[in-house]
Amino acid sequence: MKRREFINSALTGGVLLLTGSRSVTPQAKLADARIEVLLDEPIGRIAPEIYGHFAEHLGGVVYDGMWVGENSKVPNIGGIRKELVEAMKKIKASVVRWPGGCFADSYNWRDGIGPRAQRPRRPNFWVDAPEWPKGAPDGPWKYDTNHFGTDEFLRFCQLSNTQPYLAANLRSLTPKDFYEWVDYCNSPAGTTTLAEQRAAAGQREPWKVRYWGVGNESWGCGGNFSADEYAVEYRRFAEWVPRYGMDLAFIGSGPNGGDLGWSRRFFGKLAEKGGFGKMWGWALHHYTWNASGGRTTDWYQGKGDAVNYPNDEWYELLSEANVMEKLITDHWAVMGEFDRQHRVKLVVDEWGAWYKPGSEVHPTHLLGQQSTIRDALIAGLTLDIFHRHADKVAMANVAQLINCLAALFLAHEDKFIVTPTYHVFEMYAAHQGAQSVRTNISSPRISYSRNSKPATLRGLNGSASLRDKQLTLTVTNPGLPGANPALETEIALHGATIKEVQVTSLTAKDIHAHNSFANPRSIEPQPAQATVKGGTLVYSFAPASVTKLQITLA
Ligand code: AHR
Repeated sequence: MKRREFINSALTGGVLLLTGSRSVTPQAKLADARIEVLLDEPIGRIAPEIYGHFAEHLGGVVYDGMWVGENSKVPNIGGIRKELVEAMKKIKASVVRWPGGCFADSYNWRDGIGPRAQRPRRPNFWVDAPEWPKGAPDGPWKYDTNHFGTDEFLRFCQLSNTQPYLAANLRSLTPKDFYEWVDYCNSPAGTTTLAEQRAAAGQREPWKVRYWGVGNESWGCGGNFSADEYAVEYRRFAEWVPRYGMDLAFIGSGPNGGDLGWSRRFFGKLAEKGGFGKMWGWALHHYTWNASGGRTTDWYQGKGDAVNYPNDEWYELLSEANVMEKLITDHWAVMGEFDRQHRVKLVVDEWGAWYKPGSEVHPTHLLGQQSTIRDALIAGLTLDIFHRHADKVAMANVAQLINCLAALFLAHEDKFIVTPTYHVFEMYAAHQGAQSVRTNISSPRISYSRNSKPATLRGLNGSASLRDKQLTLTVTNPGLPGANPALETEIALHGATIKEVQVTSLTAKDIHAHNSFANPRSIEPQPAQATVKGGTLVYSFAPASVTKLQITLA
């Protein structure tokens, strides 16, 4: 669409995207797009926990990813990969969920404590995964050595300044096992027998774990329960655990994507007995994958390629990532039918893109995949959605941390690189803990073809937050280089004067661009220039870009 056409259709309302509550008449006289930052319309504090991660005993996440062992030639801190710890601190990673995922509901935490040499070897939940058609390669991803257990994970969190979020086994263990795990982690030094076992393992003081998941995907691998059945199980697990003076936060196993029935029936069942079972968060899972191959019931057929995708799949996947916004508002509305004061918040504890096998950096890395500039766009627009719903989303955990799905890190033995998604987390870290403020973004929709039929995709997408005099504005442009132009955009701040602006942009001309062991810095953020004209900021957002404008207010 040409600039003049956009202005005309924007004025007739055809392409105006309103992300805020206040309707603003588009004033894009000369620019392609316009962003209004409404500093006087706060949404909520952006919980740092939105910048959370997820680590499961799955392929190369734990073994080869986080854990290399004390005797490894790979630099490590007591067996934990040192470079990973340092990178986590750089991006101010906030929380890590462990040990699953589906693995969590087959895991006995007792297998992973005490002297490592005496820990049992167990078949990993993923041992028969169809992505390993010739069977799982030998190693701890097949028969878990349990060398990485509760204390190793909690040490990892301590080293990387992150909070732990432990997912308890509801399918194959009992409420007693759950509260004894809480006892092992949180009982004060010298009190219970489990506190003594913890001390014998080197940790006298309690680990003080606050976040506890009560099952995972209980509608599927976590027990295949109906929502009513799960509500009963949830109550049994959450009814009593020792709190040791802590404000424990229980997270219920919420819906698969848009399954509103799961949320409605679960909350309805809990409400029958009054209260919400001491629940703090309701977990939503949404993976972005590509339907262009045709969805099938097969576990992974129909997913697209991580790197070699046609133009249509670029648009299609970014369009699917946008679905997150509707999932949040829809489930929030259903939860509000029962929990009128919204005491329970949403926890999006699995999100990211999921592709078919083939781009993993090592055959042992089940569900491992490369990440391109497209994944950076998905990360940016998803985090922006979370910010715009900072009043609803209390935590989010990208799936997964390393060597799996939308990972921030890829590693094998002594090789270690960061993906474009890592750079987005680093750029966006300034939002953590800041006040999310409303933005109105008007920009042309992008036209493309879906299965030979015309389709459109939201254009610029973004969010803003304020901390003291620092305004952080982040924006993604999902346009395709060569097909869609850069968008010159007027950015108006209501109720503030600009003193200084620093721009950082992550972009690539090749939509398949990614980092690799051979070329680890192929994509990195670069500084860019904005101009200020008569109090209005003007910046040109390149197609296929994620941009941060760090604005100091006068
Ligand atoms: O992240 C991979 C798997 O996806 C998790 O184990 C499960 O919870 C989800 O289905």
